[in-house]
Amino acid sequence: MDNSEVYVGLDIGTTSIKAMVCENVKGQLKVIGVGVVPSAGLNRGVIVDIDKTARAVSQAIKQAEEKSNIDIKNVVVGLPANYLQMQRVHGSITIASQGQSREITDRDVIDVAKETLTQSISPEMAVLDLIPTEFTVDGFDGIKDPRGMVGVRLEMKGTLYTGPKTIIHNTKKAIQQAGYGIRDFVIAPIATGFTLLNDGEQDFGTVMIDLGGGQTTTSIIHDHQLKYTFVDPEGGQYVTKDISTVLNTSLRNAEQLKLDHGYAMASLTKPDAQIDVPVVGENTPQQFSEEYLAEIIEARVRQIFQRSRQRLQAIHALRLPGGVVLVGGGASMPGIVQLAQQYFKESVSVYQSDQMGVRYPRYSLALALTMYESQLSDVDRLIKQTLRQTDLISSPHETKATSRPAQQPRQEQWTSAPARRETTNHNEQRAAEKKPTRAKKNKSHSLGNRFKSMFNNLFD
Ligand SMILES: Nc1ncnc2c1ncn2[C@@H]1O[C@H](COP(=O)(O)OP(=O)(O)OP(=O)(O)O)[C@@H](O)[C@H]1O
Ligand SMILES: [Mg+2]
Repeated sequence: MDNSEVYVGLDIGTTSIKAMVCENVKGQLKVIGVGVVPSAGLNRGVIVDIDKTARAVSQAIKQAEEKSNIDIKNVVVGLPANYLQMQRVHGSITIASQGQSREITDRDVIDVAKETLTQSISPEMAVLDLIPTEFTVDGFDGIKDPRGMVGVRLEMKGTLYTGPKTIIHNTKKAIQQAGYGIRDFVIAPIATGFTLLNDGEQDFGTVMIDLGGGQTTTSIIHDHQLKYTFVDPEGGQYVTKDISTVLNTSLRNAEQLKLDHGYAMASLTKPDAQIDVPVVGENTPQQFSEEYLAEIIEARVRQIFQRSRQRLQAIHALRLPGGVVLVGGGASMPGIVQLAQQYFKESVSVYQSDQMGVRYPRYSLALALTMYESQLSDVDRLIKQTLRQTDLISSPHETKATSRPAQQPRQEQWTSAPARRETTNHNEQRAAEKKPTRAKKNKSHSLGNRFKSMFNNLFD
């Protein structure tokens, strides 16, 4: 079967690679299989060893193929926001031939998009995405889809996102080497911001913080656009390293202690709770209080939140109507919401999908990638096509080497037996139970309007 109604989101994370297969059933996306394997070849969110990453990508996708019973050909891959730059662009073309106006076609949309790409960008940067904000036909602005309209002049305004060539090159190579094609590249905070936040949050402004293993990414979605990103080079791995150093235990033990007993705030632990820690060079485990473990965790997470807060403060974006939404594995940590509230004051919540089996925040990006791709409009697809023509995105028809026949997806295989999934982290359940789910926010429009134009000159 042609998997045109099946989307595969690939999140190449520093600590794990997630491949999520979703099927579009009458406009509703359903998760039908997930592959998760430990990552390899990445450092702080960026691929540094293509061969190792390719092997891990291949394992993750194979696992997802087995779980979903789908023969995967191509994937929608997330790109980290490291060194991401954004600029407003404008393109304009003449539609009329021999002075006669005519109907605007797909070709014209491609041509006007190409015009916006004639920006000078530095040689080490590549175009990652171009997102239109509006089209103008003969001076009439605010048009989302100009096709079929009659005009003499077509203009397009949008945002051009550029990033280091090496990031897109290494990602492309790793996936191709794993034997798969790339349907689309999507900048991670664009995927999560445009799909996991509701309409009002995207409109009036919301901060999203991805608490990853290798890095922490703070982004602002406002006016339905990604307006700002800040990548902090510390994440969950640093927390684990701190635990390992302070308690003199292996990294593996430290990670397990964090998952089984970790709290982001020491004040939330039970003071009498003790844990046994295998200590390097000692035959018998040593006892530490949960409170002490939490103090180690809290110290590092506070630093991460503090830096994020400083950046937001510097651009006067600390109090956005949509508050702060946490995603990424670190958002599973009990107490993380309470700690974040100390820094960001506004309502803080953890994004939690209602999709069976992928409720945990570490799956947010993989899920968002499939949602994003399935929601693209015809105009978005034409613009993606334009980028593809300039060799940014490999053909979706590049197929993998295997010849296993594609089969019908089996929904029940995934939903009826979630317990058989490999959840290396039993603590996700523990964290999910403790953590508050997202409360629906009812923001007043007057407050929202105050922020609506706040970032209008962010690019100037
Ligand atoms: N219940 C939990 N409590 C504390 N930390 C957790 C929990 N579950 C996962 N984590 C941490 O989340 C991190 C992994 O999150 P995630 O999968 O989002 O990162 P990644 O995508 O691999 O990395 P990055 O986005 O930085 O490239 C790890 O450091 C892991 O220890
Ligand atoms: Mg990640």
